[in-house]
Amino acid sequence: MSSDPKKKIEQMAPWFGEEEKRAVAEYTASGGWLTEYRKTAEFEQIIADYVGSRHAIVVTSGTAALFCALVGCGVGPGDEVIVPDFTMIATANAVVLAGARPVFVDIDPSNLCLDLHAAEKAITPRTRAILLVSINGRSPDMIKASDLAEYHSLKLIEDAAQSFGSRYAGRALGTFGIAGVFSFGPLKIISTGQGGAVVTDDSEIAARIRRFKDFGRAQGGIDRHESIGYNFKFTDLQAVIGIEQMKKLEWRVKRKKEMFALYRFELSGIEGLRFIDTDLTKVTPWFVDVLAGRRDALMSHLKENGIQTRPFYPPIHIQPAYNLCEQHPITGQVAASGLWLPSSSFLSDGDIQRVCDVIRGFSKD
Ligand SMILES: Cc1ncc(COP(=O)(O)O)c(C=O)c1O
Repeated sequence: MSSDPKKKIEQMAPWFGEEEKRAVAEYTASGGWLTEYRKTAEFEQIIADYVGSRHAIVVTSGTAALFCALVGCGVGPGDEVIVPDFTMIATANAVVLAGARPVFVDIDPSNLCLDLHAAEKAITPRTRAILLVSINGRSPDMIKASDLAEYHSLKLIEDAAQSFGSRYAGRALGTFGIAGVFSFGPLKIISTGQGGAVVTDDSEIAARIRRFKDFGRAQGGIDRHESIGYNFKFTDLQAVIGIEQMKKLEWRVKRKKEMFALYRFELSGIEGLRFIDTDLTKVTPWFVDVLAGRRDALMSHLKENGIQTRPFYPPIHIQPAYNLCEQHPITGQVAASGLWLPSSSFLSDGDIQRVCDVIRGFSKD
């Protein structure tokens, strides 16, 4: 049964409960300093265990995690980094922050991720890394991506900000490259308000990132600075929330898959609306995404009915911040028709039925 037609449905919202409230209250009562310490180390270990990596280092955001991963892998001025033209802008901006140049490459229409053939063609003697974004939990063939990077002696870094909980060939996304990054921003599958993590099996990279996020100090509290570094430290206050959120992750992974399957079933056969092939045994769709012929009109219709949606990111190369004269046709087509439907994991089946009823009503017009 559809939910109350007057109830507003947001495209996505964070979800915290009594458990997080209690954990914060207990932590503050314990007299901790709020900044990162034992609870942060515990949260890091839980993340590392969950994805199966040797190290997890948490920082202030996914963007900071990307910056730390790039610097930790030795990317810097004079380097080029291959980046998909279709991604959240933080992917490209982190490359700029590291002093390198993002080289934009088109995406593969079957998974909306970096087109590996186009990526290979974009490699130059200056290319240092491939920053592969597993957009919305999907990925290209990760074995091919790893082989491509290895063949050309490049670092494969994964921006898995949207893919916590997704896997490929039984392995967590984020663990195929030399380093992988997750985001715990407010709209991610689990959130610590803001926050991000770098995962890696490489102990030297992990140590470099730990120094880099703490002013270049080899040891906390001792003012000897081995290298240039900044302050991207986490807080134990966020960590206690993250620890509680992690207890809910498996349920949310399952729910995200059920939600995607329900939308796909309800909206099948609607003219002008298409789903990307999604293998739910591997992919945990963060957002429910569709390609819609009359995207903007559909968005307005949904809005009139109290349902919030969000259009896909515009191609990065046309963003005023970059404004490059390049051609990436698949990104252009996808960006013009892509729509994120309501995807919060607390939505009921009735809420989803209502969204689908409204979409069906639109397509009959
Ligand atoms: C693909 C991708 N990369 C990076 C980021 C940046 O993460 P944060 O918002 O935690 O800085 C995001 C955030 O949405 C993202 O989707």
